[in-house]
Amino acid sequence: MNRIGICYRSRYGTTTEIVQEMVKTAQEAGVSIDAADLKEGNLPAPLEDYDLIAIGSGIQVGKWAKEPLKFIEENASILSTKKVALFVVCGDAGDPAKCDEAQEMYLDNIAAQYPEIIPVSTGLFGGMFDFKKYNFVVRRMVKGIVKKSLNEGEEVPDVMDFRNWDQIRAWITELTTI
Ligand SMILES: Cc1cc2nc3c(=O)[nH]c(=O)nc-3n(C[C@H](O)[C@H](O)[C@H](O)COP(=O)(O)O)c2cc1C
Repeated sequence: MNRIGICYRSRYGTTTEIVQEMVKTAQEAGVSIDAADLKEGNLPAPLEDYDLIAIGSGIQVGKWAKEPLKFIEENASILSTKKVALFVVCGDAGDPAKCDEAQEMYLDNIAAQYPEIIPVSTGLFGGMFDFKKYNFVVRRMVKGIVKKSLNEGEEVPDVMDFRNWDQIRAWITELTTI
């Protein structure tokens, strides 16, 4: 693997931290890697220069952010000639009982929407709920949803972190060998 590009969108910063760990891991393995939060800009080099492009998003209310989907649509032609990997960061991946459904809804269904790309790999990563980062309305809504998944009487903590750093590092390491 000569060069990897990661294009993603993070709404509350969890995916950014995960991508930063991917970049660090790949660099330590001697692989050239760039990352771009598509809200802020594009990869530093033209897509042609990358051997593999990983595209990802945090999940909110069952959906990818619009920027990475637009990126796939706009670059479908070049992406069809590249190795492509898809990944998502979501709350559901923190619950083993919800992982199969999350894989189908957030990754397999998305891949099926874009027949031009056949992912060489997909990554389903647990994210986090950091309630201090949300405004009042979002905090109340998300806490209400999370509370239903807890035991009776159990309080929702301020932070719930489902990130599995070993899984994240293993995934990007696998990509460097594809
Ligand atoms: C308003 C809101 C809605 C969310 N909806 C979902 C959801 O439908 N499914 C899910 O698995 N996780 C959901 N989550 C959890 C996020 O995917 C999780 O917080 C993730 O770490 C967000 O990544 P980001 O900070 O990079 O955007 C939601 C979080 C928020 C704040």
